[in-house]
Amino acid sequence: MRVKFLGSFYEEFPPPDYPEVVFVGRSNVGKSSLLNMVVGAKVARVSKEPGRTRAVNYFLLEDEVYLVDVPGYGYAKVKREEMERWKKMMEKYFLERKDNIKMAFLLIDSVAGVQPLDEQMIEWFEYYGIPYTVVLTKTDKATQKEISRTLKQVKRYVGEEAVVLSSAKENRGKKELLSRILK
Ligand code: GTP
Ligand code: MG
Repeated sequence: MRVKFLGSFYEEFPPPDYPEVVFVGRSNVGKSSLLNMVVGAKVARVSKEPGRTRAVNYFLLEDEVYLVDVPGYGYAKVKREEMERWKKMMEKYFLERKDNIKMAFLLIDSVAGVQPLDEQMIEWFEYYGIPYTVVLTKTDKATQKEISRTLKQVKRYVGEEAVVLSSAKENRGKKELLSRILK
């Protein structure tokens, strides 16, 4: 896959010359890892420490679509100012880009399940009219029972066709995600 890092953005974003797909979810849920898996290259920075991604990072895939890696939410240790900063940056991002975002991947940890902040995120998507797909992450770490429970929670919001199971560790879900991105 041809993928190019376009830069980290805080206030101004790149011109909407290509449609974009954004990876959203709690801190540490595996957004950057999933993006890397999908493109087959280590372009986004991954870390054990939550809060690794601090800006809105743009990648261009196949000269066709922007892939966007954004900072995660819900990291317990962040200070109030940090949370406010996140909220401001993300509100600006979604408001400015809502028409250019063709799809948001909402990542949910297969073990942890749907959290209140994920529900808030879904409300944002609905408010901004952004179509979203739920991606369960790190299935390699989850038992079948945990996956079923999380799937059941997710189905309160979306139909089965809008859920993808994934593991960056095992390359699971790659084809499915790629085909949704390039569609
Ligand atoms: P922030 O940028 O802080 O919001 O985090 P993120 O959502 O981008 O998570 P990131 O991709 O940096 O991954 C966080 C941690 O989870 C890292 O230690 C990864 O190696 C690990 N991880 C990511 N995906 C998987 C997976 O599919 N399986 C397992 N076992 N670990 C994973
Ligand atoms: Mg990240």
